[in-house]
Amino acid sequence: MRIPVLYFSLLIGVLVLAFGFKQTQASQACWCWSQGQGMVAGPIPHPPSKEYESYGSYGTEADWNDSSHLLPLNYEQTQGKRIFYQQCVWCHADTTPAGPSNRSNVTPTPSLMDDGATLNKMKDEAIIRIIAEGGRKVGRSAMMPPYGGTLSQGDMQSLVAYIRVIASPPYSTAASSATGSPEANKK
Ligand code: HEC
Repeated sequence: MRIPVLYFSLLIGVLVLAFGFKQTQASQACWCWSQGQGMVAGPIPHPPSKEYESYGSYGTEADWNDSSHLLPLNYEQTQGKRIFYQQCVWCHADTTPAGPSNRSNVTPTPSLMDDGATLNKMKDEAIIRIIAEGGRKVGRSAMMPPYGGTLSQGDMQSLVAYIRVIASPPYSTAASSATGSPEANKK
């Protein structure tokens, strides 16, 4: 009587393992879907080197409908763009690589990151301060999270470089860094 019971439980065990293995294989296969199969959610696989170029700029850069007119960025600005797409795009752009952004659900509506009319008036230090400390600490909305623990000073500097280069109307360095006074920035 013992032997058949043992045999039976072994059989069940093997079947369960085999089924589990098949499931794993099946779920791995999903990652091989081509874009043509209409994947609805999740990141679209693409070569890492094109990761940020291929998205276009989703309302953050001048002329974003025309990929041949993307702004030429230097190293620091490119770093800023990368961090922007990782951390900020959800609230500071209308569209994200994963679809519509959360911007319209946030109060007050965060400015687009290329909104020169708003951001040109802020000094570099003020921008870095609100990024590092978040909205609440600088007396603004707590919906703007603090990034001081996540981003390095260099990361934030890169973000400022990116914000400056995409600004529309354009940001004028002459007007700002020369005196550093807020009045100078308003010209
Ligand atoms: C969860 C949404 C959210 C995310 C993510 C977010 N912000 Fe904000 N941000 C806000 C909101 C809301 C405000 C407006 C705060 C106010 O005016 O009270 C704001 C304000 C700002 C301002 C001040 C200018 C303005 O829009 O009024 C800057 C600069 C800024 N954010 C930069 C960033 C950067 C850079 C990142 C990414 C590192 C980021 N934010 C990520 C919500 C967000």
